[in-house]
Amino acid sequence: MKTFRILAAGLTALAFTGLAHAAGGAKHADGPEAGWPFEGITGKYDQASVQRGYQVYKEVCSSCHGMKLLSYRNLGEKGGPFYDPAYPNPNDNPFVKALAAQNEIVSPTPNDVGEFELRPATPADRFRSPFANDAAARAANGGALPPDLSVITKARHGGASYVYNLLTGYPDFSLYEDRVSEVDGETVYETVIDMSKFDKLGKYKPEQTSYLLQPAGQYYNPYMPGDTRPNYGGDPRHAPPGGFLAMGPQLTDGRVEYSDGTEATISQMAYDVAQFLAWAGDPKMQARKEVGLATMVYLGLLAILLWFSYKRIWRKVEH
Ligand code: HEC
Repeated sequence: MKTFRILAAGLTALAFTGLAHAAGGAKHADGPEAGWPFEGITGKYDQASVQRGYQVYKEVCSSCHGMKLLSYRNLGEKGGPFYDPAYPNPNDNPFVKALAAQNEIVSPTPNDVGEFELRPATPADRFRSPFANDAAARAANGGALPPDLSVITKARHGGASYVYNLLTGYPDFSLYEDRVSEVDGETVYETVIDMSKFDKLGKYKPEQTSYLLQPAGQYYNPYMPGDTRPNYGGDPRHAPPGGFLAMGPQLTDGRVEYSDGTEATISQMAYDVAQFLAWAGDPKMQARKEVGLATMVYLGLLAILLWFSYKRIWRKVEH
């Protein structure tokens, strides 16, 4: 009987966590409509897209996010966005050298008088970090730490699709409304989002005339894990999925200018930078898939060969 009661209590608790999760969960990251070219056992990164993604990272994201596991030479390695077969050693690749030199870094070794000078990066250097340390990064971002993006597609459920959906999932600027009110003689500034006009939630329809109050320095995103119920103006059971994060919308149409003529729409830039981050988190994917496929073919042929030799060797033996 006792065991039964403990079991029942456990099941009830489980059921409740399930409910809580359903109410506070984030929207599932589906990624771009057409999927990713690097999915599947023969999938490959779209090199032009990864190149454009590097540009988006450099011109937009790198002012807040570092990628300290990457060196500039990685960009020119086999499988990398700027690989050139003429330069098997990326340290010699003039284009990679030029890309590196666009970044000023603090030299990791001191000069003759013991000072750490600023100098243009070389292919051997790690990616430039936007802040000297975490405290400086927090101070510049209202207390929130912009995570290092080297392996972000491995660190978040949904990977590249999550990054893509997060960047494109913010409500349109036209839905934000700034409200100024007086509370006990103090002026209170609030931002509310008109959820009834927010059409990026798919099947989920928030109630009419429902507002979401955005906390100061925070931004609503349906893909960010969190809980919107305390900030929702309507019935908490209909609170929209997602949560708040300290990063606001970063992309606007034409935010970067692509040299290959691709139109820099928000979804194009998000697609490119997410694919670049997928490459950064798994730069050897293509080589691994090629070896894997060759191994499977080899093992298949070996299995057929073994089967026939087995038949031949044992053909005169009763078994
Ligand atoms: C103005 C600074 C700033 C810029 C520019 C910026 N971010 Fe962020 N980002 C942040 C901060 C701050 C956070 C932490 C938010 C938090 O934890 O509340 C963050 C968080 C993130 C996260 C993690 C969200 C999570 O699940 O925890 C991702 C992914 C991300 N940024 C991607 C990008 C990409 C890609 C770009 C470039 C297109 C970019 N960011 C540009 C400040 C910035």
